[in-house]
Amino acid sequence: MNGQAVAPSYGQILQLDELLQSARVHDDDVDSVLFLATHQSCEIFFAVMLRHLEAARAALDAGDGRLAARRVAPLPVIVSTLVRQFDGLATLTPAAFDAIRTELGSASGFQSAQFREVEFLCGLRDTRYLKTDGFTEGDRARLRARLDERSVQEAYRDFVAGCADPAVVEQVRGALIDFDEALAMWRARHAVLAERFLGGATGTAGSDGASYLWQAARRRVLPEVWAVVS
Ligand code: HEM
Repeated sequence: MNGQAVAPSYGQILQLDELLQSARVHDDDVDSVLFLATHQSCEIFFAVMLRHLEAARAALDAGDGRLAARRVAPLPVIVSTLVRQFDGLATLTPAAFDAIRTELGSASGFQSAQFREVEFLCGLRDTRYLKTDGFTEGDRARLRARLDERSVQEAYRDFVAGCADPAVVEQVRGALIDFDEALAMWRARHAVLAERFLGGATGTAGSDGASYLWQAARRRVLPEVWAVVS
């Protein structure tokens, strides 16, 4: 002790009391615990993705392609871990899923404002999603702010125009494509999972369920980056 400041513990640094208090890990039904905690975990990583994408955009705007590529590099790995989380949900029995679905009512991942933020920040900007039922005014304000911001693909376009080193351009492009490709795989895994549990039924948000998700799997969040292969 000696009057010295006590170093914060692991639990304090991670704010585990607060985190586990609000984590949906306390329900009696352990199937629900898996389902809800998986969604919460995805939301944490959507937040991490947003931070990294903002940092990548700043690096591109500063003309530092290597740093931008480094900021993007963890993202496909993170998205792969989210794909594995769908594998975990696939272990639910149809009966357990049906019980959870009844509890969900009209709630759906469709109402993930952070997922739309990822799309908007990158450059996939379908403004119809601003009207999504279940978004709070705060969600909509954040999404509108994203639309006013420069997208990652705009920053990439300007970076490419000003960069004299084709190797660095290729490094950045490769990192961005790796990320978008991982997201496409996430979308496809999501569609298969929905097919497993819903068959041809509609989703809780009222979409065409798996069929909607298969259409969504065709989307790319960085369409301009894919468009030009040098
Ligand atoms: C058994 C598990 C799951 C099933 C059956 C499922 C099903 C669906 C369906 C059918 C939709 C379309 C909207 C609707 O009508 O509800 C949807 C959208 C969505 N779900 Fe899931 N989902 C599951 C797990 C997850 C998880 C773990 C996440 C992670 C946060 C997630 C995130 C999303 C997102 C972001 C959308 C919007 C996708 C888009 O519009 O491109 N879902 N989900």
